[in-house]
Amino acid sequence: MAKSYQDIAGDGGSNIVAQVTDQVARLRQRIEQVRHIIVVLSGKGGVGKSVITANIAYLLANRGHRVGAMDVDFSGPSLAKMLGVHGQQLKMTSDGVLPASGNLGLKVMSLDLLLPGDESPVTWKGPADSTAIWQGTMETTVLRELLSDTDWGELDYLLLDLPSGTERLPAIAQLFPELSGAIVVTIPSEISYFVVKKSVTLVKELGMTVLGLVENMAGYHCQHCGTIGELFGATHRGDETARSLEIPFLGQIPFDSRLGECTDSGKPFILKYPDSAATISLKGIAEKIETFMEEAEK
Ligand SMILES: Nc1ncnc2c1ncn2[C@@H]1O[C@H](COP(=O)(O)OP(=O)(O)OP(=O)(O)O)[C@@H](O)[C@H]1O
Ligand SMILES: [Mg+2]
Repeated sequence: MAKSYQDIAGDGGSNIVAQVTDQVARLRQRIEQVRHIIVVLSGKGGVGKSVITANIAYLLANRGHRVGAMDVDFSGPSLAKMLGVHGQQLKMTSDGVLPASGNLGLKVMSLDLLLPGDESPVTWKGPADSTAIWQGTMETTVLRELLSDTDWGELDYLLLDLPSGTERLPAIAQLFPELSGAIVVTIPSEISYFVVKKSVTLVKELGMTVLGLVENMAGYHCQHCGTIGELFGATHRGDETARSLEIPFLGQIPFDSRLGECTDSGKPFILKYPDSAATISLKGIAEKIETFMEEAEK
């Protein structure tokens, strides 16, 4: 089932315009069956976007919703592993590719589910001087193809886990005019504040709704005494950041090594540690998202 993403050689008589139009039409049809599409982004790398996507997906599924999660990070895909479906064989039907099936009925799609072997990096076979621009174009093509080929069926929520940076955002906004909103993730450091500020500006400029800001690694959960201690260098609190950017604040999640360990190894942290401070925060965030979406549908 390996699929290699290569340059479409010239037009080659393949009528690319018609192919793309057809893909976009298929994508629209699929998306019609999805009630809410939410992107999780930051601009800043390594702040916990994927951890938050994975655990919010579990929480929404645990509340009875039909949930899909898609990894839009092609260079460093991690969502399939975090949702415990890494290595699953995807099934093809006459209507496209069925996403992998995870805990709590989650449906998961990631490019690394289509690649052979753990070590295979995603390589883009383009012109010899493969520039960043070329890579961006290829990634947008693959994203459109993957989305139009994936048979999600009916979903209440589709969560898109974005890579760091903001390069994917314009393509996402174009592919999903019906996008419900963006969750922006930050950590309480000056650099994160600096980068996230720019991302929020771009999200607004693209006309996306900002559902709110999540502050991750807000304090440190001590496993011995159960308290949340302050992290050294935490200068920019999430609530203050949200206020200064005039966006809602969704909540703060402490650094909890069990959350990192569980998620990285594909186990649902929220089920294993339901009473932890991190689960309680994540639950609060999922409930706010749910309420926002229900209000928006009225
Ligand atoms: N609150 C937390 N407590 C403990 N570990 C965490 C927490 N949040 C994230 N981590 C860990 O930090 C690492 C980075 O998290 P993650 O991969 O979700 O970040 P990311 O923003 O998606 O990164 P990238 O920009 O590379 O996509 C992971 O190993 C993850 O398990
Ligand atoms: Mg990530």
